[in-house]
Amino acid sequence: MDKKNRKAIFAGSFDPITNGHLDIIQRASKIFDELQIGVLINPNKKGLFTLEERVELIKACTKDLDNIKVIEFQGLLVNYCKEQGINTLVRGVRSEDDVNYELQMAHMNKELDPDIDTIFLPTNKQYSFVSSSIIKEVLKFDADVKNLVPKEVLVALENKTK
Ligand code: PNS
Repeated sequence: MDKKNRKAIFAGSFDPITNGHLDIIQRASKIFDELQIGVLINPNKKGLFTLEERVELIKACTKDLDNIKVIEFQGLLVNYCKEQGINTLVRGVRSEDDVNYELQMAHMNKELDPDIDTIFLPTNKQYSFVSSSIIKEVLKFDADVKNLVPKEVLVALENKTK
């Protein structure tokens, strides 16, 4: 694989970033020269964290990686990729259930832009059950999630749910 100036994007809601996401980011950042982390602006969905907070948290957690760019995007991901000259989407897969959903998205993105390919990275098995949603769910009951999110996120979650 020609690694010269290979750009990829790992897009998602990141509400908030988890250790599972971070693991994918760290591994993808070694494969590509530039990895953008695209935080989706979804005007119809109110998350726990604002977009600005999500972006700041991702920046804080990835500050040691020098080929990461955190951006916000809205609209179709393939359109943003076209503007940026990005041909590769990175997605983490945790389980068979993810594969079905992820394949559907990958095929739709390919349909929308044949130049786009999706690369799946298997999530580290220690995080195979972790999602932003399940973390928010258990936090409602004051569960301890310190092994599942970066420390910056843990502090932010504590402040948010106080
Ligand atoms: O973290 P998520 O919610 O699983 O990420 C899903 C995301 C943001 C990658 C996907 O919903 C997306 O790309 N949305 C942007 C709109 C778009 O391009 N939709 C078509 C996807 S096939």
